[in-house]
Amino acid sequence: MVIGATGQIGRVAVGALARDGWEVTAVSRGGGRDGNWPDEVRVTAADRADDRALSAAVGDGCDVLVDMVAYGPEHARQLTGLAGRVGSAVVISSVSVYEDDKGRNFDTQAEPDGFPEYPVPIPEDQRTVRPGESSYSTRKAGLERELLALGDRLPTTLLRAGAIHGPYGRSPRELYFVKRNLDGRRRRVLAHGGGSRFHPASVHNIAELIRLAAARPGTRVLNAVDPEAPTVTEIAGAIDAVMGVEVENVLVDGPPPAPTVGDTPWSTPAPVVCDMSAAERELGYRPVVTYAESLPETVAWIGARLAGRDWREAYPKMFETYGDLFDYAAEDAWPG
Ligand SMILES: NC(=O)c1ccc[n+]([C@@H]2O[C@H](COP(=O)([O-])OP(=O)(O)OC[C@H]3O[C@@H](n4cnc5c(N)ncnc54)[C@H](OP(=O)(O)O)[C@@H]3O)[C@@H](O)[C@H]2O)c1
Repeated sequence: MVIGATGQIGRVAVGALARDGWEVTAVSRGGGRDGNWPDEVRVTAADRADDRALSAAVGDGCDVLVDMVAYGPEHARQLTGLAGRVGSAVVISSVSVYEDDKGRNFDTQAEPDGFPEYPVPIPEDQRTVRPGESSYSTRKAGLERELLALGDRLPTTLLRAGAIHGPYGRSPRELYFVKRNLDGRRRRVLAHGGGSRFHPASVHNIAELIRLAAARPGTRVLNAVDPEAPTVTEIAGAIDAVMGVEVENVLVDGPPPAPTVGDTPWSTPAPVVCDMSAAERELGYRPVVTYAESLPETVAWIGARLAGRDWREAYPKMFETYGDLFDYAAEDAWPG
């Protein structure tokens, strides 16, 4: 059973599991179906916030429950309540649970010198933020702690995803460069010398990890990122290549020179790069795509969704999270 089946990861994961021989029940509130799923995939509409609806969707039980939309300890407890009817679980977490050795994490990044300096690459045993209710990251840490404590009662694989990319994303970071290119912008400013690295994670690689973890139940935490962690300049260049455009990079050392200039969704003052060797060792995982290989479908999907629409209407969640990503006037005014 896959909860969150019609999202960007779910669409690929359901198809991968079904083709691997699982009888899949695809759950979402809307009860939608992806055109690429085999006909045998069952579709169920249920809101996971409604315990009874979720319980009814599980019915007599399932071998594996894959959860894309577990955000806090209450979701772990909900799965605990189903433990007798669920063989094992695979749950999506985030690299944002990591904390550096000085206690800095994603929640401290706005403070002076607050951005974490993680080891490169980050292993799964890097320390994590203290569980709590204060943020997305502390809630994910609480989710992880509760699920890992279940041990054999519900063997759970937690997948700590990086910067997810793929079609159907509601907040696709790639929009930052795709829209500029579509708008004919041929010069862009990149802070931190364009060298920031914030590890991407293709929905295809995450789905492959889900497929492998489903077949090998266990209590474990694994990073879930692409085989390579390109710099912002490399990401921009890869998107240009897909779109057949040439763009001049204006590289600025240090932080963004103005609040809305040069600050891409991957622009961080220090690298966030994760180690994938544990997944290779424990699951026999091998990546199925590189960042560049996976880009064309994402770029096409973003272009189609933007067509004839204000980006804020096409991507309201992204606007809510990032604010104005396309302040061309400020960009053109720099350097003033
Ligand atoms: N975006 C990133 O870069 C990033 C990075 C690290 C980790 N993550 C993690 O990735 C996960 C999100 O995966 P995604 O990007 O594939 O999601 P998504 O594209 O936002 O899709 C969410 C899916 O869940 C369904 N859904 C939402 N609320 C639901 C509910 N209450 N009950 C049942 N179904 C529900 C949605 O369909 P309906 O609307 O029809 O219900 C949809 O199928 C989260 O756990 C997030 O923390 C994301």
